[in-house]
Formats: sequence, structure tokens, C-alpha cells
Amino acid sequence: MSSNREHFGSRSAVIMAMAGSAIGLGNIWRFPYMTGEYGGAAFILIYIACTLILSLPIFLSEVVIGRRTHSNAIGAMKQLAPGSGWRVLGYLSVVTPMIIVSYYSIVGGWSIEYFLKSFSLGFGEFTPSGWTALAFDTIFLALSCGIVALGVKSGIEKFSKMSIPVLFLLIIIILVYSVNMPGAGAGIDYLVKPDLSKVTGKTFAFAMGQSFYSLSLGMGIIITYSSYVNKEENVIAMGLGTAIADLMFAILAGFAIMPAVFSAGIKPSAGPGLIFQTLPFVFTEMGAGVKWISVAVSALFLLTVIVAAMTSSVSTIEVGVAYLVEEKKIERKKACLLVFILTWLLGLACALSIKVFGMVDAFASNFLLTIGALLVVLFVGWKMKRKDVRDEITNGGTRNTGAFPVIYFLIRFVAPLAVLMIFISNLLLR
Ligand code: PFF
Repeated sequence: MSSNREHFGSRSAVIMAMAGSAIGLGNIWRFPYMTGEYGGAAFILIYIACTLILSLPIFLSEVVIGRRTHSNAIGAMKQLAPGSGWRVLGYLSVVTPMIIVSYYSIVGGWSIEYFLKSFSLGFGEFTPSGWTALAFDTIFLALSCGIVALGVKSGIEKFSKMSIPVLFLLIIIILVYSVNMPGAGAGIDYLVKPDLSKVTGKTFAFAMGQSFYSLSLGMGIIITYSSYVNKEENVIAMGLGTAIADLMFAILAGFAIMPAVFSAGIKPSAGPGLIFQTLPFVFTEMGAGVKWISVAVSALFLLTVIVAAMTSSVSTIEVGVAYLVEEKKIERKKACLLVFILTWLLGLACALSIKVFGMVDAFASNFLLTIGALLVVLFVGWKMKRKDVRDEITNGGTRNTGAFPVIYFLIRFVAPLAVLMIFISNLLLR
């Protein structure tokens, strides 16, 4: 590890940054709907089981690669498997996040646009693509790259440490407002009532896929972030802390969203329709009667979406920037500018056509992410030496030694099969 390489300042900083990456649009626009549609409390229990059995082992595999090498994703694979075909994993881990952020930032752009519109009291038609979408996409992407340009500690760490508490505070304010709307009880029932008749094979596949996406796995992010983590850090505690923050936010988002939706007598849904049309309408039109309060809640909700999306896009951008800085010796600010230009160009077609957007999203999240995660667990479980993996997860045999055999088993046998299952169900069910 070169001595001038940056690193996170403390354990809480690492967890804030990783939670920032994890907490994103997935928590707000997909988790609440999935919970309601696939069994309420039963879904949440299955989700927790999937996180422990599948997502944490993948998470830890990425940590093994990143922290062992203290290097960007491509550099890490060059160190661990020099000259071999496994380098593909490094390249994939840098290309996938660039593709993802190119359209994720368009959604970030919509949230800025709607945040501004919420003050003019008119949301109008939702137009997902076109020149306006492109303009706001540019603003969102530029802001995200700007944060990364400030560095790991003064940019990403500072931004995450500030954003995570703010996100929790905002979502709790909205929750209090939402559960006090008339008829909110139906929304609470929708989320918590365990309904076993809704638990099918699909429930497991969706819970697995959602947990995996929500923790930002399979796209080099955890490899890159954990390369900034020191050797003393307890990596299992780090993974659990991130997963717990992510799940807590997802559940709070459910209680902030569904009671309002049911109170307005609207059918629950997922995706952009929910957060850019239904909810702003519900909050402003069906609200407390006092106009400025309902407008404020609507604006605060959209602000939550902006910040949640930005802590995620920042983590995605860092993957490419770390690569350019370390492997290509490009200065950080210039690397950020380069990533900005590349991802902006990549996202052009998505910003101008919602059809292309849908196709690229499906390809990246269903295909690239799962292949990335599959290669990660195969590499750590089957190619790396057991001793090296143990060394990393137990910090040289000083902690987590009892848990290691279980984790290693999950990495080798359970995770690859589960990722394959997600891959197949993505093909069949969506
Ligand atoms: N964990 C993110 C979410 O739930 O929204 C997934 C993600 C997507 C992270 C895109 C980063 C990103 F750029």
C-alpha cells in the first residue's frame, strides 16, 4: 500500500460511506412495494435471511479483494491473479458502474427537476426523457463528480457523514406526517401484515435480487471502498452495520410512503411513477389542510430522493476515478472530469429516449451485476487460497475465527448458486 493513498478516517466513516452507496432509489421505489406485494412482515424476514446468507458473503468477498490489495478494482485483480483471465473481473467491475451511473444520474436529474417544481405547486406531466431531462441529468452528474473530485476523505467521507443522518431525519419527518393522514392504517397493514399466501418462489427470488442490488454488490463499489479500509477494521461488523442501516432506511421509507398512498386511495406501485407522480400529488393535494406544510413535505420527500441517489452515484463514480488515478496516473480532478464526460456521453441516449433507458437498465442490472457478483464469489471461493481469504476476514486470525468456516462455505457453495438463481429468475420473471 503506498503511504500517500487515501483511506477512510474511522469505522463510522466507512459504514456511512457504504450505507450511502447502499441507500438509494432501490430502497425508496422498490422495497416498499415489494414488501407489500410479497407478504408484508414475511417478506421482510425472508429479505433478512437472504441478506445474511447471500449478500453478506458476496459483500465480504468484495472486501477480501479490495482490502487485501488496497487497490482499485482493476489493480486489485492484476495483483491477485497476474496475467490470468480473471482480469476480466477487474475490467467488468469498472465498466458496469460507469454504465449504471450514466442512467442512474438521469433519475437523480428527475428528482432535482421535481424538487424545483414542488415549489411552483404544479408538477405537470411526467416527461422522463428529452432535453429537460438531459439538462438536469447533467447537473446531477456534475454535482456527484464534484464531490468525488474533493477526495475520499474530504469529499466522499464528509458528504456521507453529513447525508446519512440527514436522510434518516428527513424520512422520519415524512413518516410522521404520512402515518397521521386519514386512513393511513391500511398502508401500515399493507406493509406489516404477514400474508403467507403471497409467499411463493417469486418472493425468494425478488428478496434475493433486491437485497443484492440494495447493497450495491457486483459493481466494484465494495471492492473500491474497502480498499480504503485499514487492516484492523472488523469486516463482518462493517458488513452488518451497512446492511442494518440499509434495511432500516428501506423499512422507514415504506412507512413514509405507503400510508400516504393508501390514505389517498391510490393503488400502490413501484418505480418513477410512484415517486415523481403519485407521492408529490398525494403530499401536496391530500395533505394536512395547511398548504405550506403539505408543500414542504413534498419538497422534503424529493430532497430525500436527491440525496439518497447522490450518495449512491458518488460511490459508483469513485470506482472509475480510483482506476484512472492509480493505474493511469491521472490527477484526481482530471480523472473526475474524464469520468463525467464519459458517463454523460454514455447516458445521452438514455436521457433522450426512455425506451433505451429501460433496455440499458435491464441489461446492466439483470446481466452485468449478476455476472460480476458470480465472478467475485468464484474467484474468492475457488481461486484464492483459503488461507489468504481467512487471513483477510479474520484479520490474521485475531477475530471472527469462529464465523469463518460458515462464511467460507457460503462463499463457495451457496452464493454462486443463489446468484445463478437470481440471474435465471431475472430472465424469466421480469
Ligand atoms: N444500492 C443502490 C440502490 O439501492 O439504489 C444501488 C446503486 C445503484 C448504487 C446505482 C449505486 C448506483 F450508482
